[in-house]
Amino acid sequence: WILMTTAQTPTNIAVIKYWGKRDESLILPINDSISVTLDPDHLCTTTTVAVSPSFDRDRMWLNKKEISLSSDRYQRCLREIRSRANEVEDEKKGIKITKKDWENLHVHIDSYNNFPTAAGLASSAAGLACFVFALARLMNVKEDLGKLSAIARQGSGSACRSLYGGFVKWNMGKNDDGSDSIAVQLADEKHWDDLVIVIAVVSSQQKETSSTAGMRECVETSKLIQYRAKEVVPKQVADMEAAIKYHDFPSFARLACSDSNQFHALCLDTSPPIFYMNDTSHRIIGCIEKWNRAEGSPQVAYTFDAGPNAVLIARNRKVAALLLQRLLFHFPPHPDTDLDSYVTGDKSI
Ligand code: DP6
Repeated sequence: WILMTTAQTPTNIAVIKYWGKRDESLILPINDSISVTLDPDHLCTTTTVAVSPSFDRDRMWLNKKEISLSSDRYQRCLREIRSRANEVEDEKKGIKITKKDWENLHVHIDSYNNFPTAAGLASSAAGLACFVFALARLMNVKEDLGKLSAIARQGSGSACRSLYGGFVKWNMGKNDDGSDSIAVQLADEKHWDDLVIVIAVVSSQQKETSSTAGMRECVETSKLIQYRAKEVVPKQVADMEAAIKYHDFPSFARLACSDSNQFHALCLDTSPPIFYMNDTSHRIIGCIEKWNRAEGSPQVAYTFDAGPNAVLIARNRKVAALLLQRLLFHFPPHPDTDLDSYVTGDKSI
């Protein structure tokens, strides 16, 4: 027999960035962060997990290629979920798996990203969140989403925020064991429905410095990173929470843009410096800044993760349509690019 389940998890984009760990193995951050989760039909990971007595070991495929599950991160998530597995019964198929059986059963995991992997589009966030969620469902784990977020966090920090829709805060927590370093939902996906997220894929190449390595080098060498975490982020987080609560787009946009620029300033303050953005990213920033200034009030926010791709958040659909026109005019897609992948999806379209 074989028993399987499929889950889908969208990626999330931080508007107040997580950058820097205080514990590398438990993945505990040095500051709180806030993100917005995209709609599930765009930029998401779909993961099917299966269990069968005929499987002789745990195996995983990512985008149809087999990958190793031996990393500490995958192993920790698997262990945490397995230890919470409960009895599963499928009467129609005549299957009964006891709590004890799970210790000796192996799983096969098939995961697929509908967007470029490791190109600064938070693929690890959607991937690890989906990995944990799908396994938890297969194994009938009864923990709430907060607890599951603490497990997903151990796979990849930003993954903990992908278990919820809408706006999500990852509380850095204080405990050494990470039990209070969990994600909470600030507002659900209907709360600020006007916003439209446009992703301009500047490059779908894999980035040179992973987020994990980049933030480690930054913590080790930047003189500014601790100052940001302790003195700057707490107020930025509080202000961002208020902007979200009251649908205050001008404050939201100013905070998101300045936090993104601050994060990239930390990357430059790393030795050797890390350049995630490229000339096109810089030109996009220039274009949005100019537009926002001309309007007298921000219409579009930009934010860039560990890669050159721009995440642009328009205040409504009308602005999003103008934004697309401007992007296509100033940054014509490469002739080989299919338009759907040039400007991909959004939160509400
Ligand atoms: C720039 O979550 O990918 O996207 O915890 O080492 O797996 P690890 O790092 P990861 O870092 C994400 C960094 C970021 C900002 C963010 O998403 O908050």
